[in-house]
Amino acid sequence: MAFSDPQLPPPSSNDPEPWSEGDFAPIIAFLRNRIGISLEAHRLGLLQARLRQRLQAKGFPGFSLWHDRVLKVDPAGLGMQLLIDLSTVNHTAFFREANHFTFMAERLSPAIKEARGVVRIWSAGCSTGQEPYSMAMVLAETIQNLSPQRVEIWSTDLSSEVVATAAAAVYNTREVTGVSPTRLRRFFLRGTGPRDGSYRIVPEIRDLCKFKRLDLRDPVWPLPNDFHAIFCRNVSIYFAEDERMQLLNHLAQYLRVGGWLAMGNGEILPGVPASLRKFAPSIYRKEQ
Ligand SMILES: C[S@@+](CC[C@H](N)C(=O)[O-])C[C@H]1O[C@@H](n2cnc3c(N)ncnc32)[C@H](O)[C@@H]1O
Repeated sequence: MAFSDPQLPPPSSNDPEPWSEGDFAPIIAFLRNRIGISLEAHRLGLLQARLRQRLQAKGFPGFSLWHDRVLKVDPAGLGMQLLIDLSTVNHTAFFREANHFTFMAERLSPAIKEARGVVRIWSAGCSTGQEPYSMAMVLAETIQNLSPQRVEIWSTDLSSEVVATAAAAVYNTREVTGVSPTRLRRFFLRGTGPRDGSYRIVPEIRDLCKFKRLDLRDPVWPLPNDFHAIFCRNVSIYFAEDERMQLLNHLAQYLRVGGWLAMGNGEILPGVPASLRKFAPSIYRKEQ
């Protein structure tokens, strides 16, 4: 990315100090107004540090200049994607919030066994893939002859960086710490030689999952709308209260009647759409 641009004036003495809070302010406004992300102070601090590192490496002398020369010039371009990638917190883990996976094994799998046609499940906000792969592993443990013709696990996230990591399906020792030895043996290929310490998900599981970048704030989602289950866990924390309700309404439209919605255990919801009934804490069923 070139820094010098003869069309733009050099920084004036009225400009804020490079890399200062004032210099960062236009980026915060861009995040809020164009991407719809409002970060708490500690997350903003983290973003500021990470962005500074990236921009300095590209030769930029300050935030506001990058804002003016990159974000303003192409507001939907690579600059925006970099901001999204750096500002979203992608914490996740295999079998995180175990109650949802017990629910899958006990309630969802028996229903899937009975279902005719393709069964679709959606991990909305899949981060680096641990969630959809955990879903696939539970289904593989509980349903015989599972195949991509029978079950599709749609896996989407706002950040293209995490979607690419998820699709690569390679994890390190720390990331597989919570996986039982039985599952590790059955569902992971252990790297050898230069790949020692890395674990790749086996094709049987990988093939069930399809990855795609998707912003849940978009008004239209190019996805099927007959999901048997949607996991949208720990994503609405990035949404304002009114947006949370919109998100829930939108998710409900993508469930078939009788389908299930799992939200994160710690998420505070402003209410739930009339079509959903609470089945257990953080688990809802579409009734009409
Ligand atoms: C904390 S992680 C949760 C991952 C996983 N669902 C879990 O519970 O382990 C939140 C994920 O939501 C994604 N996200 C945030 N805002 C989003 C949006 N508007 N649309 C889609 N994904 C979003 C982030 O990129 C991040 O990967």
